[in-house]
Amino acid sequence: MILPSTSENITKAAALLREGKLVSFPTETVYGLGANALDASAIEKIYALKGRPSSNPLIVHVESIDRISNVADLESNPFLIENLKKLSKFWPGPLSVVLPRKKELPAQLSGGRDTVAVRIPSHPVALALLKAAKIPIAAPSANPSGYISPTTAEHVEGMLNVEIVLDGGPCKVGIESTVVSLCSTPPLLLRPGFITVEQLSEALGTEVKIIDSINDSEALLSPGMLKHHYSPKTPLILWPSTKVPEGDAAWVTFSGTTPSFKAKTLRVLSLSGNLEEAGQNLFATLHELDNGAYKAIVVESCPDTGIGKAIMDRLRRAAENK
Ligand code: TXA
Ligand code: MG
Repeated sequence: MILPSTSENITKAAALLREGKLVSFPTETVYGLGANALDASAIEKIYALKGRPSSNPLIVHVESIDRISNVADLESNPFLIENLKKLSKFWPGPLSVVLPRKKELPAQLSGGRDTVAVRIPSHPVALALLKAAKIPIAAPSANPSGYISPTTAEHVEGMLNVEIVLDGGPCKVGIESTVVSLCSTPPLLLRPGFITVEQLSEALGTEVKIIDSINDSEALLSPGMLKHHYSPKTPLILWPSTKVPEGDAAWVTFSGTTPSFKAKTLRVLSLSGNLEEAGQNLFATLHELDNGAYKAIVVESCPDTGIGKAIMDRLRRAAENK
């Protein structure tokens, strides 16, 4: 059930989480499907509801930097605390950092790995929920595994059967958080996002290695790097392409380019060609167009810079043949 994010409903959702139930809540990136990160059986409910492979680890959300040491083992390496400090300017915000895992955490959380991804979200409802629940919250995106992430409460309600979906309006970033691992030297970018690799490298004062998710063996470090991911049911074609079915395709453009084929429907992600605005609208547009009315959704490529890198990463994966 979708509920407005009143303080009463946030308290109710926090109580459900503490009882081992699942709750969906807004973050600035996408809506999450939350469970008590300290409760193994609650975590298993996430995997079951999403149909997620148990090897794909979850991100743990905490309310502040001083709570990170409850889930991550920062003692093992003095550089970790130093590097975390350097990245702290991006928090609260759309950044997840992979760290050594506290042994006491349920193993299910990390798909058997000895690491844990941690993030402090900036959405006021997510922060209020974390404060009210007083527990770390494990939360993947609230979509069936492999499908497009939700950026509104209605998207969640349409895809998953959850007792409570806290409504926090449309997500401002609209693309999942950047994931960087501090467990490797040099640090590894495991998923591009709103915080760019250039920003991370500058803050850390060292090169951050970008994994080529399609060809690099290190991509196995993070199952979210799998080629086929984030796909609508309708085939998604990344433009330019020669495979467009004439007449029955939807055309999605970043700045209003006219398609060179006959499209049934047209959607513009940002009239001013602003990539941040386009990122905000991308998943909602794909959700809307994935309604069975089109033989293909053809999406124009955008510049591969800044948040454009994250957008192109999601689009390339969505366009991979199943
Ligand atoms: O923006 C976000 O990060 C959203 C909101 C809800 O916070 N969450 C999200 O979670 O996108 P999920 O589960 O859909 O994606 C988590 C990504 C996956 O690519 C996963 O493989 C990677 O993070 N990941 C999580 N823990 C990891 C770990 N210990 N080592 C390597 N990769 C990890
Ligand atoms: Mg996801």
